[in-house]
Amino acid sequence: MEKIIAVDGPAGAGKSTVSKIVAAELGYTYIDTGAMYRAVGLKLFESSKPLTENFLAEIVADIDIKLDDKARVFLDGHEVTQKIRTPEISKLASDISKFGFVRKKLTDLQRKMAERGAVIMDGRDIGTQVLPNADLKIFLTASLEERARRRFEELQLKGQLEDLNDIKKEIALRDKQDTEREIAPLKQADDAVLIDSTNMAIEEVVEKILALAK
Ligand code: DC
Repeated sequence: MEKIIAVDGPAGAGKSTVSKIVAAELGYTYIDTGAMYRAVGLKLFESSKPLTENFLAEIVADIDIKLDDKARVFLDGHEVTQKIRTPEISKLASDISKFGFVRKKLTDLQRKMAERGAVIMDGRDIGTQVLPNADLKIFLTASLEERARRRFEELQLKGQLEDLNDIKKEIALRDKQDTEREIAPLKQADDAVLIDSTNMAIEEVVEKILALAK
């Protein structure tokens, strides 16, 4: 039977890596909601204007965000899949995500995308707000040290040398913002299964979710 799977957790816990593999295994659609907040952040970034509520509302009013079946991201018709993966945009995505009107716009879109079922959606508030009736909810986490280490290695593989401590600080700041915001903060849903992947390989996490989805 086709299901709806919600995966939430802090930054860098491996949500998207794992969700993509689970989606491929089950023949489901993977929906990366973080990419949608990042697209809003990128639009603000490219305007070169400071973040004010009024200007953000203007941006969001006519924004066009699309994800295709290869998890590519399109902002106002242009592909931005790579452009949204910078530390600046990570921070901006978290900054703009505290505004209720931004969340409402993206939450409506996300619910529409999940209407047909057979989806795995990852983010911060999927199990608690976006899809509270999801068939399976996962809260995927890992220690801050481990998440920073994984991000460091990922960047190293791309030839980007960043300071491990800077990465740790960035992730910790984003977690704090995402957890402490008033509207739809990052939180484990009461009925979510907690997976701490600190000492787990990607395949182990995937196997666990697939077993739970059966
Ligand atoms: O998953 P990510 O790191 O790409 O998300 C970027 C930011 O977007 C994250 O720090 C907070 C925001 N976000 C959110 O508020 N709600 C979601 N469902 C997904 C992301």
